[in-house]
Amino acid sequence: MSFSQPMVTIRSARASAAVALAQVLDAQRSLTDVLATTMRLVAPRDRALTQELCYGVLRHGFLLDQVLRSLMQRPLAEQDPRLRSLLLCGLYQLAYLKTPPHAAVSETVAAAAELGFPWAKGFVNGVLRSFQRDPETLMKRAAQDDPAADLGHPAWWVAALQTTYPAHWRLATATGNTRPPLVLRVNRRRITPTLYLAELLKVGIAAFLHAVAPDAVVLEEPRTVEDIPGFREGLVSVQDAAAQLAAPLLDPLPGNRILDACAAPGGKTGHLLESLPLGCTVWALDRENSRQRKIEENLLRLGLNAHTLTGDATVSAEWWDGHLFDRILLDAPCSASGIVRRHPDIKWLRRATDLPRLAEYQKGLLHALWPLLAPGGVLLYTTCSVFPTENECVLQTFLADNPDAQEKTIAATWGNTCTLGRQIVPGQEDMDGFYYARITKSPQ
Ligand SMILES: C[S@@+](CC[C@H](N)C(=O)[O-])C[C@H]1O[C@@H](n2cnc3c(N)ncnc32)[C@H](O)[C@@H]1O
Repeated sequence: MSFSQPMVTIRSARASAAVALAQVLDAQRSLTDVLATTMRLVAPRDRALTQELCYGVLRHGFLLDQVLRSLMQRPLAEQDPRLRSLLLCGLYQLAYLKTPPHAAVSETVAAAAELGFPWAKGFVNGVLRSFQRDPETLMKRAAQDDPAADLGHPAWWVAALQTTYPAHWRLATATGNTRPPLVLRVNRRRITPTLYLAELLKVGIAAFLHAVAPDAVVLEEPRTVEDIPGFREGLVSVQDAAAQLAAPLLDPLPGNRILDACAAPGGKTGHLLESLPLGCTVWALDRENSRQRKIEENLLRLGLNAHTLTGDATVSAEWWDGHLFDRILLDAPCSASGIVRRHPDIKWLRRATDLPRLAEYQKGLLHALWPLLAPGGVLLYTTCSVFPTENECVLQTFLADNPDAQEKTIAATWGNTCTLGRQIVPGQEDMDGFYYARITKSPQ
């Protein structure tokens, strides 16, 4: 099928969002993947609303689902998943958006017919009108009936945050439900953050320097990358401030060989290269070929060079040349539980049982990469997870198994000290949740 001759109907924003959300909520697919195909079927003028509905429902859907249950005569499980998603879109508009209520109801009802449920028009209308009659009481009652839903996260997740962060769990859950800031990383090879900020202010773009990430500039309003001055020319990249704190912790010396072992799409590879001392070389490895190409695209835009390669970090025989690395960055695949404000589908897709499985995988990566590090070298382990199972517990096992490995404390003004490593709780200095641990290898 060619792009210019679509064989499928272009749908309204509400119908499109309902179809997309059903694929996340029912078929357990990632929102990023789903939106990539959905947006091709949405008229350009409807794309912003489609996206708003998808993100909004996933951010607030646990509570809206509870409201919906209270409005139903019989369990919604008997209905088509797209109908449930459409009702959630309707409730989201009424509860959180400034859409005029009559338009929210009538357009959502029309979307039911568009999706092939003309029989459900009266039903959708009835549910939304019932909500409209007393939204405050219904929302309040739903919050009382299900406190975890009120916090916008699954119950197991809230319980884990409460145990781990007695002082910060409210910040973590509240942050998970917000719209994230747009944070840029300034390419210091090209311009300083202060000068770049001055350029933004000159063209009327409100922005400020981040409090703890020295290369970060935060924009007050979101905008597309095409509208960010200097983005195409490689002056800046989009990267949360927490992610920007990782690369400097490697602190390479002139002439070092550096491995970025899980590098795609190349955010931290780019940052490393932007501030590298003379004579260093960087290998950027990733298992996924399609993601590997993203590294190349990003480095090309930034005008930087790395030795990029596709391969499995746990099978070094397939890609390693046998020369030891002085620095290794292991930005491990994880639950991504620290970045749910950017990817709210994660709250719906993760299960508590995923954590031990992910931890085993992370331990496998550490175990496989350790022999590639030179004596006296540094390995930086990072995740965007908030769960200790994937963070200090992984490191604890690793240090116990490897007597030549020692933690090198990260002294910093940001985040919290853990038994091992350092953790940013989502929302601290308005950053994503992130974990960092620095391990050195004994000199021989
Ligand atoms: C958290 S992301 C990395 C983000 C990246 N460091 C950045 O800053 O842009 C984790 C990456 O690990 C890759 N990955 C997972 N298992 C791997 C393996 N066994 N070997 C190499 N890469 C792997 C995934 O494809 C994914 O791109």
